[in-house]
Amino acid sequence: MKCLLNWRVTLLGLLLSGSVAYAADSRPPASPAAAPAAHVIDRRPGHAGIASANFHATQAGLDVLAKGGNAFDAAIAVAATLSVVEPESSGIGGGFMAVLHRAGDGREVFIDARETAVAAVNLRDYLNPDGSPNRDNALNGPLSAGIPGQPAGLAWLAAHYGKLPLKESLAPAIRIARDGFEPDRRLIGAITDREKDIRRWPASVAKYLPNGQPPLAGQLWRDPDQARTLELLGEHGFDGFYRGETASRLVAAVRAAGGNWTAKDLESYQVKERTPITLDYRGYRVVTAPPASSGGVAVAEILNILSGYDLAKLDEAHRTHLIIEAMRRAFRDHNDYLGDPDFVQMPLDMLLSPYYAAGLRQTILADKATPSSMLPVSAGAEPGMHTTHFSVIDADGNIASVTLTVNYTMGSTFVAAGTGVLLNDEMDDFALVPNKPNVYGLLGSAANAPAPGKRMLSSMTPSIVFGKDRVGVIGSPGGSTIITQVLEGILAFIDGKDAAGIAGQKRFHHQYMPDRVDVEPGAFDAATADALTRMGHTLKERNPWGYMNVVTWDLKTNKLDAASDPRRESGLGKVQ
Ligand code: GLY
Repeated sequence: MKCLLNWRVTLLGLLLSGSVAYAADSRPPASPAAAPAAHVIDRRPGHAGIASANFHATQAGLDVLAKGGNAFDAAIAVAATLSVVEPESSGIGGGFMAVLHRAGDGREVFIDARETAVAAVNLRDYLNPDGSPNRDNALNGPLSAGIPGQPAGLAWLAAHYGKLPLKESLAPAIRIARDGFEPDRRLIGAITDREKDIRRWPASVAKYLPNGQPPLAGQLWRDPDQARTLELLGEHGFDGFYRGETASRLVAAVRAAGGNWTAKDLESYQVKERTPITLDYRGYRVVTAPPASSGGVAVAEILNILSGYDLAKLDEAHRTHLIIEAMRRAFRDHNDYLGDPDFVQMPLDMLLSPYYAAGLRQTILADKATPSSMLPVSAGAEPGMHTTHFSVIDADGNIASVTLTVNYTMGSTFVAAGTGVLLNDEMDDFALVPNKPNVYGLLGSAANAPAPGKRMLSSMTPSIVFGKDRVGVIGSPGGSTIITQVLEGILAFIDGKDAAGIAGQKRFHHQYMPDRVDVEPGAFDAATADALTRMGHTLKERNPWGYMNVVTWDLKTNKLDAASDPRRESGLGKVQ
């Protein structure tokens, strides 16, 4: 019965997917450039807006704009500053994904600066003797780290999209790392949470446990090694990180601690430009992340399913029910099909087809939950609070929607001695064992199995929504919940909410397995929660959620609005 349902939907999708309305490129793109989408807006805001998870980072971006930089230079400044002040979420030891819109020619492009597996990757390193995933090696220490993409991505942005030399855009981050800053409560909490693992690596202890303990609130904290590494990156671009002094130190530190990086792994890292996924939903153009993120495919599939309903006419319980059912089906496909587009063939034409969505819609009952077990595959989830997103619009109308990560909180907890670089633990984002959940409870198939040079599947979903009268720049951290949070942000934007309303709205999430709806306290009133439960949904309260940073542009008044998520005290959305 289970298989029948799956087959019916898949077959219907396959039969009807000949005519494809939505553009997505599943072929390996040539680096540097895939065919760009273009979309020119015939006006400019005349002022700029940035929203990020930390006020130092937002200010760094605004300072770079004031020096003559554009949104892409500002994005470099924000990202590098987050590497210093918010290392628990992202950094130069990690990677990022971004959707860019260039005002002059309307070019829209996806920048994939995701980490890659090393050439010597060996699946056995990530398995216990009984064949189950070895979570310690996947999440802690040098074996858990992919080759970082962020430094190459920042150099790429400066070389291809910015107006300023890379070193000028990195200058605010270098100054803060050298002069010091006061860590916020979240960073101190993250170090405290991960203290046991940090203690395993001497250079991590030296950096994160000064005087043998996590830094204290109000104490100035300096990061001279990272300042030097950023300086070398600024001076020499790609070569300043992936070759020479920094590269030698990274390789030596990783190998001394049991990892298997080589100089060649670093030298051969490549930023990929990809064609974003673009779809129309209720007259809005949504531009979002293609694989190696699963986020845009899932958001597109959900919106395609929802486009067959008049959600505005439904009460909250029925509207929410349909959104949950669409989430359930999109996450099922996520598990089955998606991986690095340079390594796997994915049926994107089918997944993004409105006809496939129409087939899935036929399987949704108006007021009854479909048990996920009726839509084959299985597992359990643990949400994490890590990763970070920021949004930028500059005075000319250039736009950057950027999500960055070191994966789990404080990444691998491994700092490479002499570099200040905290390495990611992105190897856990591969499906190490098919259909065994990763740290976010996400399942995967052979499409996302590790391989030399391969990018692990991400949930990062930086997005831009273009309407006739408004533009919204939206994204969020939150592991697997990134996808549903961005979806809900897009729906809120289309419903007319302002930046603060989008960032602050209460959230819910379903990811197929486990078969439950995670709900932020206060998201539903008692009547809605009751109605959903009667329809067969299992609701479970959950906190915390990701931190959304949103910038909107009203094309009628030309006003920008920037808001940082109220769940985060150090965030700042600012227009100037
Ligand atoms: N490491 C989290 C993500 O990329 O989805």
